[in-house]
Amino acid sequence: MVNVINMDPNLITILLATACLFSGDAVRNERQTADDTGNTICYEGLGCFEKNGSLFGKPLFPLSPEKIGTQFRLFTQRTKDEKFQILSAVDVDSIQNSYFNPEKLTKIVVHGFNQDASADWIETMKNELLKAGDFNVLVVDWKKGSRIVYDQAAANTRVVGAEIARLITFLIEKFGANADDFHVIGHSLGAHIGGYAGERLPNLGRITGLDPAGPQFENKDTIVRLDPTDAKFVDTIHTDGKRLVLALGMLQPIGHVDYYPNGGFSQAGCSIFQVVCSHRRAHVYFTESINSACKFQAFRCESYKDFKEGKCMPCVHWECGYMGFHADRAKPPTGTTNVKYFLDTGKSEPFCIHHYQIKVLTGHLLNSATENGKIKMNLILSNEQLEETYLTNRMDIESNKTYAFVVSSKNDIGIVYNVTVSWQPSTPTPGSSITIKKLKIVSGNSPRTGRFISQNATIEAGYTSLFTRICG
Ligand SMILES: *[C@@H]1O[C@H](CO)[C@@H](O)[C@H](O)[C@H]1NC(C)=O
Ligand SMILES: *[C@@H]1O[C@H](CO)[C@@H](O)[C@H](O)[C@H]1NC(C)=O
Ligand SMILES: *[C@@H]1O[C@H](CO)[C@@H](O)[C@H](O)[C@H]1NC(C)=O
Ligand SMILES: *[C@@H]1O[C@H](CO)[C@@H](O)[C@H](O)[C@H]1NC(C)=O
Repeated sequence: MVNVINMDPNLITILLATACLFSGDAVRNERQTADDTGNTICYEGLGCFEKNGSLFGKPLFPLSPEKIGTQFRLFTQRTKDEKFQILSAVDVDSIQNSYFNPEKLTKIVVHGFNQDASADWIETMKNELLKAGDFNVLVVDWKKGSRIVYDQAAANTRVVGAEIARLITFLIEKFGANADDFHVIGHSLGAHIGGYAGERLPNLGRITGLDPAGPQFENKDTIVRLDPTDAKFVDTIHTDGKRLVLALGMLQPIGHVDYYPNGGFSQAGCSIFQVVCSHRRAHVYFTESINSACKFQAFRCESYKDFKEGKCMPCVHWECGYMGFHADRAKPPTGTTNVKYFLDTGKSEPFCIHHYQIKVLTGHLLNSATENGKIKMNLILSNEQLEETYLTNRMDIESNKTYAFVVSSKNDIGIVYNVTVSWQPSTPTPGSSITIKKLKIVSGNSPRTGRFISQNATIEAGYTSLFTRICG
């Protein structure tokens, strides 16, 4: 018996129609069918889809390819005046007569919920991609499947993914393209669409999940969401993971490498309640990374807290990641998945910043076992007296211990000549002071290290001590 509760009314019509039409073997021209139990729906050329609530969240079938009307828009460096060409997986001529070149790398850009292929960010990303290389850029439009209630849009990702897989398979079989040369870049629900495409393609090159959608996907079985088995390399950028309030993305690591800018939730410049602002940053960062001189360097780390405490700097080899387009330059050893990378970004464009680690070794404290307060450091960058100021959080300071901090700057600060340090105790106590024996600055994006010492290691509140560079 077909369970009609929760079912799209159009599907019911289709199911009733098919039930009336078919009498056994006359199924040659069927577009879609349901099995006896009503748990599966099949679409011609795409295969069958289950309506399994325990796996897919809400028990919904994906809408038919006809209803979703997925369109593949091809842009290349030869495309003039935005006159894209539409490719079809059932029409050799659509590809033959297009600028599609099977020898070139193909970037497939997929939008998410409630969006379409004409979105400004897709336009910008496409242009940056074509500036970076002579790619086939395919922009996928599935607006009729995405501009509807969220749960149905989430269910539709399975059909859109299957359609992408069918097109890629067609390009491989009929035009000699190589699965390895395809890179799906999907935002939000588009990330999981990439997963559903990759699931059907044994050697898909790469999937980039830009803030993969959380609702209906987070902590689900890997057959439901994007996971590392979906492509040879799966990288993600998490920008609106669930922490306090409702989130559109997910915090769960799901790729070979997972990037967590600003910790992976509420991005710099977006308030904690501006979830859409944070969610969109994922594609903004990716687009900026394509042609930026600043490399969005990130650091392999267990947690954002550890990163902020400087525990994951400096990095070496693949433990130094690059968020965004160039993420494939840092691949973890084969078989290693869910590697987490952390970095901070600026509040506005350009978002890429440079990270530095400052390490401080304290000496014996003169007045008490622990001092509480903030350390202020001015990094003096050149003879022109350029400065970067860094103030730590309020913290406890003990004798003979090493403290590490991560400082970020819009500038590539290069060589630090001198550092001045002052001490700001939380409660003004007479004689409150700290002692700093050594200070070290490590640049996140180069092997440059500076070591500094002072003639006067004891720093009383209200005084400033000068640390001069001794080597490096
Ligand atoms: C739904 O999927 C779960 C997990 O694979 C399985 O145990 C269950 O039998 C499935 N239910 C139906 C109705 O297919
Ligand atoms: C810190 O080290 C100095 C000498 O290196 C030592 O004299 C002093 O007792 C140590 N202080 C503490 C609190 O361990
Ligand atoms: C750094 O400090 C040294 C020693 O006081 C001084 O000679 C030098 O001019 C300083 N350099 C800069 C750039 O301030
Ligand atoms: C060292 O700095 C302290 C204040 O922090 C000051 O009282 C003292 O005179 C300085 N000593 C020298 C040698 O500069």
